[in-house]
Amino acid sequence: MVDYLFKRFNLKFVINFAAESHVDRSILGSEIFYRTNVIGTTVLLEAARRYQAEKFVQISTDEVYGSLGPTGLFTEQTPLSPNSPYSSSKASADITALSFHHTFGLPVVVTRCSNNYGPLQFPEKLIPLMIINSIKGKKLPVYGDGLNVRDWIYVIDHNKAVELVFEKGNIGEVYNIGASREMKNIEIIKLILKKLGKSEELIEYVKDRPGHDRRYAIDSSKIKNELGWKPSFNFENAIGDTIDWYLQNRNWWERIISGEYQKYYYAQYSERFNQN
Ligand code: DAU
Repeated sequence: MVDYLFKRFNLKFVINFAAESHVDRSILGSEIFYRTNVIGTTVLLEAARRYQAEKFVQISTDEVYGSLGPTGLFTEQTPLSPNSPYSSSKASADITALSFHHTFGLPVVVTRCSNNYGPLQFPEKLIPLMIINSIKGKKLPVYGDGLNVRDWIYVIDHNKAVELVFEKGNIGEVYNIGASREMKNIEIIKLILKKLGKSEELIEYVKDRPGHDRRYAIDSSKIKNELGWKPSFNFENAIGDTIDWYLQNRNWWERIISGEYQKYYYAQYSERFNQN
């Protein structure tokens, strides 16, 4: 299929966003992650090589760097140290893409971004899950002590950075992307409850994610200095817009959470709630 598409449409550019992307799902079952993220990326790289693609942007993740202590930032020089089946599969795809540049001269560029939020995010992720559960008055499952830190970026800021890397990024290079907005999980959850006028009694501390990375934080000075990128969305406004989007688009997420997703939710959360 990939070969046919390259030939039929004379494809010369690839931006590979495709992935199995959820850490918790990779803990429930890892194989599909290696198949999609590693083999899938390799299939695209091989096709790009065969059809002499002029640029291949691989969307990686900051999770390839592993976990940080209370201080410090991930730079592009930070050694890769992925901790979950998800992040190890993404790290494999990331370095495979770079190896295709090194060995075959394929014009590859890699981006490593921090946690995204915004409209249309699948309800398995922290922010949409907490918004939807709050709206429905359901319990909010906080893993561990709720003090894990993530560095949040609005999806449109991420997309603009990817566009810039696609147009101007130097071949063979890696670019970190992040908006320097570190937040503890519990802070975000309380903020969502406050904005929706719901009680903090909905919060329930549950069994932690196995191997849960403590902190991610990104140094994005390279993309800022070399390509002139900077984030333009402010967290407080953009999280407010995100919450409004979920309030105004109930049909979109009700359809998702009433289908196949229910099985996932049960597999992921039923034991967690019972065990605490
Ligand atoms: O850092 C970039 C990565 O961010 C992306 O590469 C991944 O595709 C994306 O899923 C995201 O990974 P995280 O594991 O950080 O995101 P998630 O939304 O699953 O969880 C964010 C934090 O919230 C994490 O510390 C776990 C916690 N959490 C998550 C869920 C779903 C909870 O406390 N309760 C939950 O129910």
